[in-house]
Amino acid sequence: MNAIDMFCSVASSASAMDRFTSAETWERPDVQWGSHEMRTLTCCRTTDETHDVRTFVFCGEDGRPFSFEPGQFITVSAEVGGRTVSRCYTISSPPTRPYTLTITVKRTPGGVMSNWLHDNMKPGVTLNAYGPAGVFTPSSAPAVKALYLSAGSGVTPLMSMTRAAFELGLDRDIVFLHSARTPQDIIFRDELARMSVQAANLDVIQVCEGVGTETDWNGPTGRLSLELLEARVPDFREREVFTCGPAPYMSAVKEILARGGHDPARYHQESFNFAETVEPLVEPAVPAAENQAAAQSTYTVRLARSGKSFTMESDQTILAAARKAGVVLASSCSQGICGTCKTAVLEGSVDMQHNGGIRKREIDKGLRLMCCSRPTSDIVLDL
Ligand code: FES
Repeated sequence: MNAIDMFCSVASSASAMDRFTSAETWERPDVQWGSHEMRTLTCCRTTDETHDVRTFVFCGEDGRPFSFEPGQFITVSAEVGGRTVSRCYTISSPPTRPYTLTITVKRTPGGVMSNWLHDNMKPGVTLNAYGPAGVFTPSSAPAVKALYLSAGSGVTPLMSMTRAAFELGLDRDIVFLHSARTPQDIIFRDELARMSVQAANLDVIQVCEGVGTETDWNGPTGRLSLELLEARVPDFREREVFTCGPAPYMSAVKEILARGGHDPARYHQESFNFAETVEPLVEPAVPAAENQAAAQSTYTVRLARSGKSFTMESDQTILAAARKAGVVLASSCSQGICGTCKTAVLEGSVDMQHNGGIRKREIDKGLRLMCCSRPTSDIVLDL
């Protein structure tokens, strides 16, 4: 059975819809693309979504399909101005289209990668990317009734989730409430409108701060508010909420929902604002209590596959020490969030203080995040 047949057999089987709520649905071993594996992607198409937002469609240079969960992100890496720059972008396409993968990027003033992509990424051009990571996915909190709240380019992970649910015809009641500056800034406006007409269980609401040049805009104006939620999504308290957008927006959403009596256990947000990723990486602070004892020790780190080794102080993260030693490890956020630096510790022990970038089952398998792990003995890594 070839890869297409295998995908079709999964997507069309009676249990495909049930499997949507399980991470295993999209983590197919035959096409697995690990978050630590770099692949070369070839741009096959670009689409302007708004005046400053463009979608880049990629296929794998090696021809392999992609497997990921809706809501996950990849880490793209490119040579910009003579140095390697890496940035995380959530995948905007659904995993139901496994032979292409899209990211949708807003050109931001001074944004190194976003400007490079807008200026250089055209059909035929390639870039490198580390595989999908992140736990902001529907499988992390399966629910029949969901409320997706996004602002600006935070729409992308929720678009992937919506496209997947739509294409599989899932029995999921989704309200997708997106905030934009003006109607001209609404990303995926036409496609969302089309989907909501075709799917009775998808309600799309867009609220704009101002009308811009679209003086006949008849949607709600202003910002997201409890009053708007009560009026347009009266059952919001019954819904699993997924939120993505700029940090101030997500804080406001949290506050509005709390005021409205929504159960915080049913609230999920993209825990990292990728647009704010900056370099150089910032070394996470060492927990004070552990630092005192640990500061005294020096340990050896051996890389099993490459045969390299280096020594490091126990108050450093393994990622930072590797960089100092000239060893390149895949990384992005440096805060234990994105999962890019996930690596198996084959021998020895580390103290890891992460921020949600790794799952319990991965920890049980011996994986650790190098950007937020400090050794507590000599260690051997699967690198
Ligand atoms: Fe993001 Fe380590 S670089 S979790």
